[in-house]
Amino acid sequence: MAYCGDEKESSVTPEQVFWNRRNFIKQLSIGAVYAGATGSQGVWAQSAPDYSGHDLKDQLSSEFVVTHHNNFYEFSTDKQKPAKMAKSFQPGNDWQVEISGEVEKAGRFTLENILKWVEQEERIYRLRCVEAWSMVVPWTGFQLSQLIKHVQPTSKARYVEFKTLRDPKVFPGQKRGTFGMYSLPWPYTEGVTMQEALNPLAFIATGVYGKKLPGQNGAPLRLVLPWKYGFKSIKSIVSIKFTEKQPISTWNKRLPNEYGFYANVNPKVDHPRWSQATERRITNESFLGVKKIPTQMFNGYGNEVAHLYKGLDLTKYF
Ligand code: MTE
Repeated sequence: MAYCGDEKESSVTPEQVFWNRRNFIKQLSIGAVYAGATGSQGVWAQSAPDYSGHDLKDQLSSEFVVTHHNNFYEFSTDKQKPAKMAKSFQPGNDWQVEISGEVEKAGRFTLENILKWVEQEERIYRLRCVEAWSMVVPWTGFQLSQLIKHVQPTSKARYVEFKTLRDPKVFPGQKRGTFGMYSLPWPYTEGVTMQEALNPLAFIATGVYGKKLPGQNGAPLRLVLPWKYGFKSIKSIVSIKFTEKQPISTWNKRLPNEYGFYANVNPKVDHPRWSQATERRITNESFLGVKKIPTQMFNGYGNEVAHLYKGLDLTKYF
């Protein structure tokens, strides 16, 4: 993985001017939407560990494509519609997140509160959807472990469960019967083990391309787990619960034979209805002007995460 400001960074991106660190930070500090974004650290984190998993040859997907080719079933199953439908979904700093379960500092916190606990930074991650397309996305946000350490889970906490807002007035896709057979049990729910949540790659995004996260990408905060299929990266989070028992995630509940709890990117375990060996890399507006490239185990982040699954049969625990 690479960060803005890495010496090698410019080889990553065609948008070198944008990704010039000085410009980026200037842009953020002028345009920062969240007061917390520039917090006590002054600017967003300047240094970061050098994760070996990121292939510096990965080209960024354009801002347009990242924000106009979305999976957000609360709006629509169509990939282009969420961008249009989310125009009026612009949550602000007063967005509330309930933190509950096996945790010392349970409570309801605004995004503004949460941003005071963490240091923000930018990270470029590959996003591999279970549908066999992928993108390379420059997120801004914070490492999930910072939030977790702040709220102090108890020794009983073995999993973390996340939920998306349930409000059919905001999300028409949640109205009963909207998608027929595609309808999901709302609210969209996801979960990870505590070790996964504490892994340095696990990230909460509050922005993309240096701007506040748009509605269609999961405003105002969403999970990003780059070594797992994209459906684990739950959007518009309102609940974070620490549990003893493994949470039941939405897609696993809906189609257990197709979508497992772990959902680690794995080119050797095919989806029952299609191969996972390759992926269509989407970089630009043509959406289909894509290269087919081999899919990497753990989406190329094995050095950082493979140890989490030692001894686990990944064909069974898919
Ligand atoms: N979160 C919610 N709440 N609802 C969804 O439909 N789709 C998931 C994930 N998070 C989804 C969600 C899927 S399948 C993918 S691939 C990613 O979001 C897509 O993220 P993006 O639209 O920002 O690219």
